[in-house]
Amino acid sequence: MAKDFLSLSDAGGDTIAAMINDAIDRKAARAAWPKGRPDVDAPLAGHVLAMIFEKNSTRTRVSFDMAMRQLGGSALIMEAGNTQIGRGESIADTARVLSRMVDAIMIRTDDHAKVEELARYADVPVINGLTDLSHPCQIVADLLTVVERGHALPGLQLAWLGDGNNVVNSLIEAAGLMKFTIRIGGPKGYEPDAGFIERARAAGGEVVLSQDPAEAVAGAQVVVTDTWVSMGQAGGEQHVAAMQPYQVNAALMAAAAPGATFLHCLPAHRNEEVTDEVMDGPQSAVWDEAENRIHAQKSVLLWALGKL
Ligand code: CP
Ligand code: NVA
Repeated sequence: MAKDFLSLSDAGGDTIAAMINDAIDRKAARAAWPKGRPDVDAPLAGHVLAMIFEKNSTRTRVSFDMAMRQLGGSALIMEAGNTQIGRGESIADTARVLSRMVDAIMIRTDDHAKVEELARYADVPVINGLTDLSHPCQIVADLLTVVERGHALPGLQLAWLGDGNNVVNSLIEAAGLMKFTIRIGGPKGYEPDAGFIERARAAGGEVVLSQDPAEAVAGAQVVVTDTWVSMGQAGGEQHVAAMQPYQVNAALMAAAAPGATFLHCLPAHRNEEVTDEVMDGPQSAVWDEAENRIHAQKSVLLWALGKL
């Protein structure tokens, strides 16, 4: 049975903790090496990952490619528009064909149901590289960054500011699995997915919704935001205006716990959801977070291929 990674729950809390530990060990073992040199054990030697993109990407594309190289394997990119998927070949048939040709598939798309369908018909692991609903790979990298900054995950106080999007949905899922508190500051009508909130609370995470940005960040050890308008969202003046009070700036960071860590999955819209001062300031961990996509993706790939 292929192990798919469509959501963090597919792996579960213990496995995510193991992924973080493995990422820390592998990252340390190759510090200062050329970035494309394979790890000593090259655990995915001979393995190929196909990456399907129906949306733009910089970090996901490069981190998965580099992750495969560092694990001893390789990756190939399928831009949906240049493939038969873009001309209407079914997801099911694409899954059947790719399963005969590659060892794993990563897909970035809009409708989450497409990823589920791909996983249903593929015999090889399918990894969710972002949908309109969730972005689990990003959150493994975020949790790794939080742990690197010296925070324990159980009991962590984390704040999210802005739009209730795919990234915060996965962060809420993580709160349930890793038992931490997430306070979400955002405008009415832009809340995260209700199902994610319900499941995280049932799993033992604390999820608090607030329309007051200062209340959301009070006591937070980690402050996280993302673009106000995600890929594929209509956006518009009203949407952007509603987000303005939730900008992460120096005043808002001062209302969080002293020395709180700032995270952003990137790409950032500087001086919209976050000011330059915060993004480039001493509390920002965004470049570590971006690099950690490689280390986190390696753990996800190893788990999916039965080698973690
Ligand atoms: N954070 C993230 O997923 O970045 P990309 O859109 O560049 O892949
Ligand atoms: N929420 C953003 C994340 C980009 C990595 C989007 O979906 O566009």
